Amino acid sequence: MSDTRERLPRHVAIIMDGNGRWAKAHALQVAQGHRRGTETLRAIIRESSDIGIEALTLFAFSTENWKRSAAEVGALMNLLLEYFTSEIDELDEKNVCIRILGDKNGLPGPQRQAVIQAEKRTEANTGLKLNIAINYGGRDEILMAAKKLAEKVERGEMRAEEITAGDFEAELYTQGLPDVDLLIRTSGELRQSNFLLYQCAYAEMLFPTVLWPDFSLDDYHAALDAYARRDRRFGGRTS
Ligand code: FPP
Repeated sequence: MSDTRERLPRHVAIIMDGNGRWAKAHALQVAQGHRRGTETLRAIIRESSDIGIEALTLFAFSTENWKRSAAEVGALMNLLLEYFTSEIDELDEKNVCIRILGDKNGLPGPQRQAVIQAEKRTEANTGLKLNIAINYGGRDEILMAAKKLAEKVERGEMRAEEITAGDFEAELYTQGLPDVDLLIRTSGELRQSNFLLYQCAYAEMLFPTVLWPDFSLDDYHAALDAYARRDRRFGGRTS
């Protein structure tokens, strides 16, 4: 454990997959799966804050998730609203700084207001950087950054050949955050699904088979232990 603590990832990202399969396996509606998934999310956020993870990014709703049934989208939107209203006091007390990654303008009014308020209220907090990806797509994010830089070039504020990685990163939703060190996707699916495409360039990836509602603190610690044992070379050699 002490070794794991010394080699804690700075930035953990999680694709919380398997809520639907969990619901099906328990003969429940998919909304119940998402509700149980929200319990897991609460526990993982608390634990990350308690053990001193610097940044935690959770994929709550992708730009593609609007294709799901109106009932499922509605259930997810209700959970989001419920979460941001019921948890905000505790998160603020824990010094958590909340940031939404994604296009907030595409959210229904109440959800948009709740997330903007949560960001404002916690913006000066210096503890866990909690990023929740909502209406988020990795390619959209990269395109958005490219367009913003192109506009700066058009306005004569910078020259195309002088653009640095830092300039590009400053236009991403994750501006100022460290790169992702560890990406976890539950439920055994082996895909990145348009999540943090730029930021995961050197991420270690783990794909536990457990479904998200069943992902326990023991599973989380097992993932952190596995990360601590990985040999990260960033394209170089260690020996
Ligand atoms: C993937 O499971 C999960 C999602 C699409 C939504 C994740 C959302 C939550 C855990 C709760 C809402 C978030 C907050 C911040 C309160 P799936 O439905 O794709 O599972 P399946 O592949 O088994 O069908």
